[in-house]
Amino acid sequence: MIFYFSGTGNSLFAAKYISENIQDEVLIDMAQAVREENYFYFLKPEETCGFVFPVYYGGMPSVVAQFVKNLRLTSDEVPYVYALVTYGGKAGGSLQSLQAALDRRYINLTATFGVQMPDNYVVMYNPSTPDKTKVVLVDAEDELEKIVKQIQNRENPGVPHTPVDTVVTTGMQIAYRMMRKTASFSVDDNCIGCGLCEKICPVNAIEMVDYKPVWVKSECVHCVGCINRCPVQNIQYGTKTKKRGRYVHPILKPKE
Ligand SMILES: Cc1cc2nc3c(=O)[nH]c(=O)nc-3n(C[C@H](O)[C@H](O)[C@H](O)COP(=O)(O)O)c2cc1C
Ligand code: SF4
Ligand code: SF4
Repeated sequence: MIFYFSGTGNSLFAAKYISENIQDEVLIDMAQAVREENYFYFLKPEETCGFVFPVYYGGMPSVVAQFVKNLRLTSDEVPYVYALVTYGGKAGGSLQSLQAALDRRYINLTATFGVQMPDNYVVMYNPSTPDKTKVVLVDAEDELEKIVKQIQNRENPGVPHTPVDTVVTTGMQIAYRMMRKTASFSVDDNCIGCGLCEKICPVNAIEMVDYKPVWVKSECVHCVGCINRCPVQNIQYGTKTKKRGRYVHPILKPKE
C-alpha cells in the first residue's frame, strides 16, 4: 500500500513507479483520503507500506501532516514501512517530521529514501532549462530503480540528516504557514474557463465563478499545482511568477 501526495507529478511518478514494480501495491492519494475522511487501513501479511510526497519548506505538506495525524493503520505483523520524499534541493527535516508524526500513531518508520527531482517552486525560482530537467528526470528514474530493489530487500539506506536540518526546518515551517495564505493569488485576463485549477486543487480551495477561478479558502496546501498546470499560465502568486516559467512532470502533461 502506498500513500502519496503530489502537486505537479514528481511524487505521483515516483509512487506509480514503485507500485508498478512491486506487485500488488495499492495507491492511495492522501489529499483525497483527507477530503473523504478515510483514515482506516489494514495491511495484508507481507504487505509493505510507503509514504511518498514532496518536501515543502524542509518539512511535510500540510495535507500529509493532516492525513498522518488521523491515520489508523493496522496489520497482523510488524510491517516494513518506508517513506520516499522528492525534492528540488534536499530532504531537510521532512523525514524526521514524518517519523515523529508516525510515532504518535504507533507506526514505526523502517526505511527512508530521497530522490532529487525538478524543482517546481516557481513562486521562488525559475524552473530549470528543458535540457537540465530531462537529465534530472533520467537520474531520478535510475535512483527509483535502485530504491525498488532496496524496498524488495527490506533495506534501509537512510537519507543524510543533521540536527541543523531540524532547526532550519522548524524556521522554514513558519514561512510555509504564511505562504499557504491564498490572498496572494491573482488571475490574469487570459483565462479560458477550462476549470482545471478547480478540478485539481487537492483541498477544494478554488471554485469557478463566472468561468473564472476564485479562492474560497483562506489557506491551502500551497502545492503550486494550479500555478504550474494552468494551460495559459493565467494564475499568479505574488509579483514574481508572471515572469517565470512553469514546471509539470510529463506524467501529468496532456498526451499529444
Ligand atoms: C511549497 C513548496 C516548498 C518547497 N520546498 C522545498 C524545500 O524546502 N526543499 C527542496 O529541496 N524542494 C522544495 N520544493 C520543491 C519540491 O519539493 C519538488 O519540486 C518536488 O519534487 C515536487 O513534487 P510534486 O511534483 O510531486 O509536487 C518545494 C516546493 C513547494 C511547492
Ligand atoms: S486552469 Fe487556468 S485557464 Fe483553466 S480555469 Fe483555471 S485559470 Fe482559467
Ligand atoms: S489553491 Fe492552488 S496551490 Fe493551493 S492547494 Fe489548490 S492547487 Fe495547490
